Amino acid sequence: MNTVRRLFGTAILIMGCCFGTPIAAAGVEGMVEVRQTLMFSVAAHMRSLGAVAKGNSPITKTSHDHALSIVRISNVLALLFPQGSQGGKSHTKEEVWSEPLEFERKLREFEEAAARLLLVIQDGQQVEVGPSLRAVGNTCSGCHNVFRHKHTH
Ligand code: HEC
Repeated sequence: MNTVRRLFGTAILIMGCCFGTPIAAAGVEGMVEVRQTLMFSVAAHMRSLGAVAKGNSPITKTSHDHALSIVRISNVLALLFPQGSQGGKSHTKEEVWSEPLEFERKLREFEEAAARLLLVIQDGQQVEVGPSLRAVGNTCSGCHNVFRHKHTH
């Protein structure tokens, strides 16, 4: 089976409408790929807002869509780390499961920062986009520093 195509299909399904179902359908084995794919797509949405954050481009409908996608991903992230979904090519540290309260805190910080970014964009507060985007970025690295193994790619 063509893994790239399957992954792409999974990501589209997830982005499409009903978050819970395709994630559940991926099973524990497929979960590492699903969460890495979603992580890469959230990174792409973040990058797409760079020009707006720098003030080089106005807030548009597209900026709104990117911010909404970041919020949606932040809302489903918790579903992507079921027990037993470590191993293989995963960079997830065991601490995700041994320190669940701390992990939940990181998830919540990300959700809150993403929600704030969306509000700022909805309100058309261009000067606030940069700081809000950086605040989201800090929650990404805040979690990675503790819960993701360092690696070179
Ligand atoms: C609550 C914790 C958490 C938050 C918040 C989080 N990540 Fe991650 N991220 C992880 C973990 C854990 C992995 C490793 C996934 C795996 O390989 O199993 C990961 C993997 C990734 C990867 C893939 C690299 C790899 O390990 O293969 C990228 C890219 C990434 N994250 C970007 C982001 C961005 C951008 C944000 C914020 C917008 C973000 N992440 C928010 C925990 C988090």
